[in-house]
Amino acid sequence: MRTPLVAGNWKMHGNRASNRALLDAVVAGIAGLKAVECTVCVPFPYLGEVAATLASTPLTWGAQNLSEHKQGAYTGEVAAPMLADFGCKFVLVGHSERRQLYGETDAVVAAKFAAALTQGLTPILCLGETLAQREAGSTEEVVFGQLEAVFSMSRKEDFKGAVVAYEPVWAIGTGRTATPEQVQEVHSFLRTGLPQDTRLLYGGSVKKENAAALFALPDVDGGLIGGASLVAGDFIAIVKAAAEAAVARPQRKG
Ligand code: PGA
Repeated sequence: MRTPLVAGNWKMHGNRASNRALLDAVVAGIAGLKAVECTVCVPFPYLGEVAATLASTPLTWGAQNLSEHKQGAYTGEVAAPMLADFGCKFVLVGHSERRQLYGETDAVVAAKFAAALTQGLTPILCLGETLAQREAGSTEEVVFGQLEAVFSMSRKEDFKGAVVAYEPVWAIGTGRTATPEQVQEVHSFLRTGLPQDTRLLYGGSVKKENAAALFALPDVDGGLIGGASLVAGDFIAIVKAAAEAAVARPQRKG
């Protein structure tokens, strides 16, 4: 059984006061929702406070990046054991902004995925094609290549507890969501290469208005939410949509 996961990706937003207000509202807004798991991936400096705020709530927390190294002379980097020390459950790996703006190669992403696993963190591996790649008809080749790169360092079984997020680059932060047909097509393709219990999230302009249609798709197990995760009411509505989709399909087996 794949419990749906809704993960907020705050990116480089927020401050201590706004984080607190946002989390208080989200915790209250999703109280009692059992059919869905909810997490927030926050900037590194806030991990300690977010951990303290969420410790006695059903929400979990995570980071947006990690070093591929365990420790050492890597100025400015943050290692997996440090994230584990702050109680992180999840860590985003290979987000397209890391790949595109910070030059993370498939090999680095694979090493980060493996580094997360060594510390018991659950990697949320982000994959996705650019608009040019989609228009050239190479979406499947691109996402499969990104996945295969991780298989070169980690075993297929390692994906059992892991999460994969399909995030078409052209849909991130653009307001241009992939259609349900486009999402289902890529997810069913990815599903064939992964253990049945790997959760497959969709990310890219998920909003409260389109969440229900996306979460109703057979191979979508929740979402990775950027912009809308910063607005309490919107994020709560998205988490509720995931819970409702799960209740509507109790027969979905892992
Ligand atoms: P978005 O971001 O929801 O703002 O498109 C998603 C993401 O980058 O994870």
